[in-house]
Amino acid sequence: MVENSLVLLKPDAVERAITGEIIARFERRGLKIAAMKMMKLSREQAGAHYEEHQNKPFFAGLVDFITSGPVIAMIVRGENAVKMVRAMMGTTNPLDSAPGTIRGDYATVMSHNVIHGSDSPVNAEREINIFFKEHEIF
Ligand code: RTP
Ligand code: MG
Repeated sequence: MVENSLVLLKPDAVERAITGEIIARFERRGLKIAAMKMMKLSREQAGAHYEEHQNKPFFAGLVDFITSGPVIAMIVRGENAVKMVRAMMGTTNPLDSAPGTIRGDYATVMSHNVIHGSDSPVNAEREINIFFKEHEIF
């Protein structure tokens, strides 16, 4: 089934100028970019995006980090895009991420793990509504 995944290239990816390489991986795989923008998240947007983690001890640090600089937000679309993007990203902790995955190739620590991808189709739709208006989606 064709799905959408909400992908964020996090502030560390923008700062390190590795966003083009990461976008190219999705394009090479055959996934489509259906929307894309650079933006700085407000704390409110960051809190909404990561609402499932509100009561976790790492929440404040996570919001500090994701609002620390601009991100690139994208909708990545394709067959089973949610699961495929997650597989391409690698595990949350880069220490466990396989080489060849994005985190396995570009990240060393969990707090700066370069990329976000939706973890389910339901969360993808919820997250897309935080970042994009209808007319921005192609
Ligand atoms: P993301 O949402 O950013 O794509 O990451 P994820 O699904 O792989 O991991 P998730 O569980 O949703 O956690 C969101 C982000 O919070 C940080 N984190 N820190 N125990 C910890 O210190 C901890 N657990 C999670 C990570 O930066 C993770 O990407
Ligand atoms: Mg997550």
